[in-house]
Amino acid sequence: MPPVSERVADLRGRLAEQRGSVVLGLVPTMGALHAGHGRLIEYAKRDCGFVVVTIFVNPLQFDRPEELDRYPRTLAEDLRFCDRAGVDLVFAPTPDEMYPTAPACRVHVQKLADHLCGRYRPGHFDGVATVVTKLFNIVEADRAYFGEKDAQQLAIIRRLSRDLNISTTIVGVPTVREPDGLALSSRNQHLSAAERTLAVALYQALCEAHGQLMAGVRDVGLIKEAAGSRIPGVPELRLEYLEIVDSEEMQPVDEVKGPVCVAGALWVGTTRLIDNIEWNP
Ligand code: PAF
Repeated sequence: MPPVSERVADLRGRLAEQRGSVVLGLVPTMGALHAGHGRLIEYAKRDCGFVVVTIFVNPLQFDRPEELDRYPRTLAEDLRFCDRAGVDLVFAPTPDEMYPTAPACRVHVQKLADHLCGRYRPGHFDGVATVVTKLFNIVEADRAYFGEKDAQQLAIIRRLSRDLNISTTIVGVPTVREPDGLALSSRNQHLSAAERTLAVALYQALCEAHGQLMAGVRDVGLIKEAAGSRIPGVPELRLEYLEIVDSEEMQPVDEVKGPVCVAGALWVGTTRLIDNIEWNP
């Protein structure tokens, strides 16, 4: 098993022994590790001589308390996963270690959080930006790895790192999918068998949008209509949003003129799934 640090000081002590002699990679996670995280670790191992995985269910980024309560916590399994993946060190702090006092500072990235998930999850991205900034400062890695599945999160992290002169290089890692196209997510484990079958509708809607773009359609209204028609009208499914935004600032566009991100959130029963595809003319 990889060594586990629960304390910032302990982690820093262990990292001091490595610093300078190897490229240090950081893979921030909230645990419940699956093949999508495995891909982040794989990318990190490819580039870095020493890989730290952080496992912390960050209370600051949950806008609904019931979601924080039901977020899967599987530390023993996660450690075995890290062992198999060849992780060098795990940082698994408690909430008290990360937030010994209620934080008076939050990192807020303007504009990029206004649409998509940010519109429906007030405070979520401030919580993400704050904990990620803390992890950057705690680990001081050379490179940090984030999934492209969370496209808005990745755009926000890239922007905060640029604006705040974070010296860690941000690396985006392609989404891992099930054979039918469903993006891997820790939340998939909440789906019943029937819900799991329906859940692929989000990916199918994104593929429809992609098909429309490939066919030369540029009117966002038309693309969204075609994509939305791929979501079956059954009570288990509720499309929260399907938007087309510019890939850099995550702002909705009316007409596609440059690189865009087609992103959606779909409720499947009581589980909220997100996914996106990039399109670059
Ligand atoms: O993507 C996640 O798992 C989380 O939002 C992150 C980046 C680990 C911050 O808590």
